Amino acid sequence: MKKLFAVLMFAVMPVLSFASEQGVHLDKVDIDVSDKAAMQDGARTFANYCMGCHSAKFQRYERVADDLGIPHDVMLNNLVFTGAKIGDHMSIGMQPEDAKAWFGAAPPDLTLVARVRGTDWLYSYLRSFYEDPSRPWGVNNTVFPNVGMPNVLAPLQGRQVIGCKQVQIVEDGKKQYDPLTGTPLTHEACDQLTVVPKTGTLTEEQFDEKIKNLVTFLAYSANPVKLEHQRIGTYVLLYLAFFFVFAYLLKREYWKDVH
Ligand code: HEC
Repeated sequence: MKKLFAVLMFAVMPVLSFASEQGVHLDKVDIDVSDKAAMQDGARTFANYCMGCHSAKFQRYERVADDLGIPHDVMLNNLVFTGAKIGDHMSIGMQPEDAKAWFGAAPPDLTLVARVRGTDWLYSYLRSFYEDPSRPWGVNNTVFPNVGMPNVLAPLQGRQVIGCKQVQIVEDGKKQYDPLTGTPLTHEACDQLTVVPKTGTLTEEQFDEKIKNLVTFLAYSANPVKLEHQRIGTYVLLYLAFFFVFAYLLKREYWKDVH
């Protein structure tokens, strides 16, 4: 009975943890942790825009360089701003007590954040900052209400504002059109995020791609052995295919005289 209870608890645990997130809409993103170009771009964004406040201290620069195919000198010259050596962990100088005083909350280490929050959450969070003059940094976030983090990517994304606008009606995942005129059917929805055109250096598509690459890097960082597993997995499958042929030939040989 005890065992059954334990099993039941495990079964409902994911449901319970999801329940707390209810109501927040997350955009889905397809992450491919074998896409090295994406991860290199993500690593660059991470070093340039995030490591001022966040460490990835369970990871070493050298490991990232080797896994992502970045030569060590390129890594040191372009992605290391702390005077660290290639074998050092990706830590930063900011003291948690100072950070807490400045931001109201210490910026957490991000090595494992993709495992804790999930990639959809990260992708949505980083694209959901909006202007809110009532907050200390002038920004808020629809995925993480009253967040302590400033919108460090605003120069790329531009100014994002929240408000009501006409959005296309979607039913069962299908966009709805007027059957007679073919024009999109819309309704007014509030809490909608809109980027003020031409206030950022990237277009909306380019910005989404940048964030997707950054999240790909964070997904890799949270599970660096996944790349290794995929490589080994390929060999295992090839071996099995190869072995199958021999097993089959052997079986035929053995059964030849039985029939
Ligand atoms: C100026 C300092 C600063 C910079 C730069 C910064 N952040 Fe943050 N970040 C914070 C603070 C402070 C928090 C804690 C917010 C809170 O708990 O209210 C935070 C929280 C987060 C969280 C939520 C973690 C969690 O699970 O609660 C994520 C994810 C994150 N930051 C990602 C990033 C990424 C990616 C970048 C680079 C694009 C970045 N941050 C750049 C200060 C910063």
